[in-house]
Amino acid sequence: VTTIAILTAAGSGTRLGRDIPKALVEIDGVPLVTHAARRLAASGVVDSIVVTCPPGLASVVADVVARDALVGVPVRVVDGGATRQASVAAGLALAGPDDDVVLVHDAARPFASAALVRRVVSAVRDGHRAVVPGVPVVDTIKTVTDADLPPAPAPSGTGAMGAVVAEPVISTPQRAQLRAVQTPQGFDRALLERAHDAAAHRAVDAPATDDAGLVEALGERVVVVAGEDAALKVTTERDLVLATLYARQAEK
Ligand code: CTP
Ligand code: MG
Repeated sequence: VTTIAILTAAGSGTRLGRDIPKALVEIDGVPLVTHAARRLAASGVVDSIVVTCPPGLASVVADVVARDALVGVPVRVVDGGATRQASVAAGLALAGPDDDVVLVHDAARPFASAALVRRVVSAVRDGHRAVVPGVPVVDTIKTVTDADLPPAPAPSGTGAMGAVVAEPVISTPQRAQLRAVQTPQGFDRALLERAHDAAAHRAVDAPATDDAGLVEALGERVVVVAGEDAALKVTTERDLVLATLYARQAEK
């Protein structure tokens, strides 16, 4: 009866555009992956952490995380895969027979709080076998068809109008029913393993962007618990600025 956290850090951070992997980018002199690991450990409910790192950087990532005295729980580092899904699978392979709960968390969400980690693990321990944090969305969301449709013919006499990429709207989900989901996501280990096994044997057009989606694909129940603003994902330079604000706020 232990909880293992898979901390995904194997991405390259293309959209951030730095010359080092995103997880190694620093805020206040501390790499994002270490910020995330510290909060997982501080929750008091995580027994070990497996960090998935860019292939070839295991020793570098081990140095920055495992030597951080504030982490204080055992940290292992494993090479990630070409997709986030493959990276999570690589981490999951290191779960032991006693690990009955698995958390999957993005190093790109460095300031997800220890309280959020506890909330997710509590929900799993209460019997929910797949738990994701989520927040209400502020924008109205529309589903659209693929952008590579033949362009609509330009109305005559409108000049450049025809060059605008226009995506036909399919539907508008009720905003009150929508949640933007975050990590850490928490699972019963056997269920998550089954979900990843099934996904690995299934041909899909697009890789899963979160683990709960793989559980949903099995037809199993997933529940949402309250997420938080501080768990925002760092994707662009703007997010680094926002995350820094949250870091300063949390220190007060
Ligand atoms: N990730 C991973 N293995 C991959 C791809 C992504 O472990 N092959 C991790 C990232 O390190 C990150 C999380 O999954 O912590 C969410 O991915 P994302 O925000 O897309 O990060 P990157 O893939 O690094 O960024 P980008 O897509 O801009 O390249
Ligand atoms: Mg990515």
